[in-house]
Amino acid sequence: MLEIKARQGLEQLEEYKVEMVPNADIVVNANEANWNLPKDVLLQVQYKTQEFIFNRYPPMGTGDLGEVLAEDLHVGSDKIIIGNGSSELLEKACFAFGGAGRKIAFPYPSFSMYGVYVQMADSISAPYALTAEGYVNADAVIAFCAKEKPSLLIICNPNNPTGNLNSLENMEKILAGVSCPVIMDEAYMEFAQEPESSKEISTLSLLDKYNNFLCFRTFSKAYGLAGLRVGYGIGSDKLIGIIQKVLMPYHVNSYSLMVAQVAYENKTFFRERVQLIRSERNKMRGELAGLGFKVFPSETNFLLFLPTEKLACKLAVYAETKGYQFTGNNASKAGTLIFQELLQRKILVRNFSGNFYLPGGIRLTMGTEKENVKVLAVITEICKSAEE
Ligand SMILES: Cc1ncc(COP(=O)(O)O)c(C=O)c1O
Repeated sequence: MLEIKARQGLEQLEEYKVEMVPNADIVVNANEANWNLPKDVLLQVQYKTQEFIFNRYPPMGTGDLGEVLAEDLHVGSDKIIIGNGSSELLEKACFAFGGAGRKIAFPYPSFSMYGVYVQMADSISAPYALTAEGYVNADAVIAFCAKEKPSLLIICNPNNPTGNLNSLENMEKILAGVSCPVIMDEAYMEFAQEPESSKEISTLSLLDKYNNFLCFRTFSKAYGLAGLRVGYGIGSDKLIGIIQKVLMPYHVNSYSLMVAQVAYENKTFFRERVQLIRSERNKMRGELAGLGFKVFPSETNFLLFLPTEKLACKLAVYAETKGYQFTGNNASKAGTLIFQELLQRKILVRNFSGNFYLPGGIRLTMGTEKENVKVLAVITEICKSAEE
């Protein structure tokens, strides 16, 4: 009789499933870019594709992309690591610093994959709470680490799904105040940076001062390359050396590396888009607040909004009159109503309604201007109908 036993610890781990709606017209659920590469970038990629060497394995190490990043960020290439999306780097960091009996600290509510990677690495989850407004409380995190003694601390800044940007001062306080390695997940930092501003807001500006952290970035968001899976880490050469031990050889394909390099070398083409997303986000935030939602102060390419009590009550009643039989409290019913009604109109957002910390929460990625107008019109229509 065949006896199949998964590795210990995997029993509790559920397979990660992504909501797919193949016929959705507006896909604003995964914080991707809603347009393809800028034409000039695409042309350069096409040109390079003609002579591309497909038959060889990718370079070991970080290759040309690593050199370009190192030069631009004024660091040695030993301070750069590249991954198959920043997801791979997060996962491998958990493998490298976690393990049986070790704790890894990560925020909540935040990127749900942190807990999954911790479990996959057979480590103990040590979640720490963000404030009710979605910020990291530096003193509380330092005290938490002193007590729990994690072997790795993860910080998400700006935070997904709330979007909050934490001050550099607070981030530095943590780097100076904890004794374990720190991963600063800055997947959305490009959207926080005012394109023309010289004010430092990223921990990248602390690279010369601290050697206990890595800053993770990705090409999936601001560069719109989610399909190619490229992320990178910058910082402590010591930490990088340790993570490198658990990477597979040739773990990032050479075509993705080439396209990411072309994108990075043409950053300016993406700036305009980032600026547009920032302005759409700020506009949308005002509109949603005007409808009676609590909207988190996002510095990313998405917004998280929750119905306030009064609105939740109206939407929950309206859901019943429409024949829905949602379970949970009013906020959760209200969020699910919005999610379902948008879905009926082929608009896919991310539903956090049932999340205990984000009751009724909906996360909306900023799409094109036209898409945003459509999404807002539907949400407005639902809220107005609930008023009647
Ligand atoms: C906070 C955060 N970190 C990391 C990632 C992973 O991004 P990728 O693997 O595409 O680089 C995501 C993706 O949504 C994210 O939201």
